[in-house]
Amino acid sequence: MEKEKLIEEINRLRKEKNAVIMAHYYQVGDIQDIADYVGDSLALAQWAAKTDADIIVLCGVHFMGETAKILSPDKKVLVPDLEAGCSLADSCPADKFEEFVKAHPDHTVISYVNTTAAVKALTDVVVTSTNAKKIVDQFPEDAKLIFGPDRNLGNYINSVTGRSMLLWDGACHVHEQFSLERLLKLKETHPEAIVLAHPECKQQVLMLADFIGSTQALLNYATSSDKKEFIVATESGILHEMQKKNPDKTFIPVPPNDSTCACNECVFMRLNTLEKLYKCLRDEQPEILVDEEIRKKAVKPILRMLEMS
Ligand code: 13P
Ligand code: SF4
Repeated sequence: MEKEKLIEEINRLRKEKNAVIMAHYYQVGDIQDIADYVGDSLALAQWAAKTDADIIVLCGVHFMGETAKILSPDKKVLVPDLEAGCSLADSCPADKFEEFVKAHPDHTVISYVNTTAAVKALTDVVVTSTNAKKIVDQFPEDAKLIFGPDRNLGNYINSVTGRSMLLWDGACHVHEQFSLERLLKLKETHPEAIVLAHPECKQQVLMLADFIGSTQALLNYATSSDKKEFIVATESGILHEMQKKNPDKTFIPVPPNDSTCACNECVFMRLNTLEKLYKCLRDEQPEILVDEEIRKKAVKPILRMLEMS
């Protein structure tokens, strides 16, 4: 089907079915443009918790759909492609994480939202990259904390809060890929440019950043800055909204180590297309379902996050 027709059909179906379309900043531009809401992981969870739509179409990855379902169990939560997983969530299998947690029974468990429902069910409070510092700061200085699964975000939060949280050794394949060498070259050729980095990047990349933050924070920083050039170390989908909000500014994505791949694009996020979005609204599937026992446990640390944010 042609793009114009797809857009027309999506608009018709979402009205007819009282559906809301939510998209993460890493989605392809066409999906961001048609979504009712575009935001980072925290905003998606906040919107999912309070929408009065009957259907939520979550254009992002699986854990984002799961978070929406956990918060709004009475809604139908759809994702355009059920295969849209997350290498970071995959780096933390629930059974292994449970062993880790059990080995440190006196610790409070803080988990990044990029986790499965089963891992959230083992967690005391969930965080996103937007609120991780704010939430960790609310624990007493001598609190014993576990942080999982992203070691880069965990190291970064340890450094800015002065904590020594125990870290799970997981990472995101996209943010681990950015080339330090190529970032240094970019800085040389664009000496005036501001370097923006997501805290999932490796420490060496974060050390070169002028500003570190979640996708929303990076976007806000670029929009309010009076500088004109930005080098961006995160998934390149965010450049769509950055450019849209700042047509007079230049955004340069940091390339990955391997010049033959498009590894600064998340393969999982890119599985969703306008065509799949149309089909999932039409057929009301694939649907996200969460086991009720797990959901009841997983909702607590997510609600705690929303309160502490
Ligand atoms: P945000 O918290 O910035 O939305 O990050 C989500 C994510 O998947 C980063 O890779
Ligand atoms: Fe997961 Fe990384 Fe993709 Fe984000 S960019 S969804 S952390 S694999």
